[in-house]
Amino acid sequence: MKYKFLLILTIIPLISFAGGREIYSENCEKCHGFSRQGSLGLPLYRSTIANHSDRYLQRTIRNGRPGRVMPGFNLSDAQVAKLIRFLRAGVKAPKYDTALIKGDIGAGQYTYEQYCKRCHGDNLEGGQGTGKNFSWQKDREVSPPSLSNQGFLYAASDQMIKHIIINGIEDTEMISFAKEFNFTDQMTNDLVAYIRSHQKEFNSGEDTIDEPLVFIYKSPHDLDATVSKLRESAAAYNFRVYPNRTLFEGLGEPNIEDNKQIVVRFCNFKNMQEFLKIDPRLGVMLPCRATVVENDEGEVSIIIENYKHALRRFNNDQMNESADELIQKMQEMIEEVLW
Ligand code: HEC
Ligand code: HEC
Repeated sequence: MKYKFLLILTIIPLISFAGGREIYSENCEKCHGFSRQGSLGLPLYRSTIANHSDRYLQRTIRNGRPGRVMPGFNLSDAQVAKLIRFLRAGVKAPKYDTALIKGDIGAGQYTYEQYCKRCHGDNLEGGQGTGKNFSWQKDREVSPPSLSNQGFLYAASDQMIKHIIINGIEDTEMISFAKEFNFTDQMTNDLVAYIRSHQKEFNSGEDTIDEPLVFIYKSPHDLDATVSKLRESAAAYNFRVYPNRTLFEGLGEPNIEDNKQIVVRFCNFKNMQEFLKIDPRLGVMLPCRATVVENDEGEVSIIIENYKHALRRFNNDQMNESADELIQKMQEMIEEVLW
């Protein structure tokens, strides 16, 4: 350990990280941490990526992890190379041959269920949440990554996966399972085949959602009645309702008084807890709101934002599911008002 430390100390000044640190700070630091200790993203210490090939890192950076928070980055080859040099910090990149591994998928599934499922999930979807856990709500220090994620499967070669199963990842819960539990070579191959069987054709293109940005409902009631029915309905749907606001209140323009636009704010603590547990950045989104507007003709509408659009920027499947539920509930709640 001491030897390694000294070696690293002497190597560091010799290597030029020129540019890599900046590229990292700009694109990666907010999720992987200033000292690469991890936060929303996994730790990226030089020891953590010691078993990851350059190809794996390149592809991971280019394509991200669809649905698991990490976006793909449109960096030049030179920038990616600098970034990788910076991450490696002098540690040599491992090389794997590209030979595919054959194995029995069914037998691999059996081994997976015995040894891996408790961390990587029933369907290899990874642990709850992502990255490093700084919150009291998750049960592991680092959320085990998804092994069925198409970004992962596209990036990782069979030989690399096998190597990690045999050697683990230093200083993490990912221990050297094959050694620790005396897996035969065949068992390890079967496991790789089982993991690989989750790969589909990789599509790094953005899939778009075919849904409006906002939902607008015509209210049969006047402004005041609509607002009070909305508040009642929100309460009936288990939302906690906050005082109404006129549109510009709280936005730093105190002189604008527009009584024809009223914002009803509400929040469901169960939803909120669920969201925050998945991703603490969601604090900025909450609580929910609906705007009630009366136009010059005296027609009243209720407008809610379709949160699915904003949430998609977080690139998190778990969250998209919760957003679907939330929007559906808000829509039902508003339907009640329209009677
Ligand atoms: C918005 C947050 C976010 C940003 C920005 C981000 N990442 Fe990630 N990254 C993640 C998450 C979350 C994971 C783990 C995915 C999982 O749990 O399946 C991850 C995984 C990775 C992995 C795989 C680690 C492993 O152990 O296999 C690498 C490598 C990586 N990121 C590198 C980078 C680099 C380099 C950048 C900057 C160009 C970057 N990331 C930017 C969130 C992010
Ligand atoms: C105790 C929890 C735990 C168990 C059990 C476990 N893993 Fe892991 N695994 C992790 C964690 C945590 C990581 C990420 C470590 C890091 O990069 O910081 C990981 C990473 C991996 C990786 C690398 C993925 C990547 O994105 O870098 C592979 C492959 C893997 N595990 C496969 C397996 C297999 C196969 C098994 C069963 C033999 C298994 N794991 C069992 C926790 C676990």
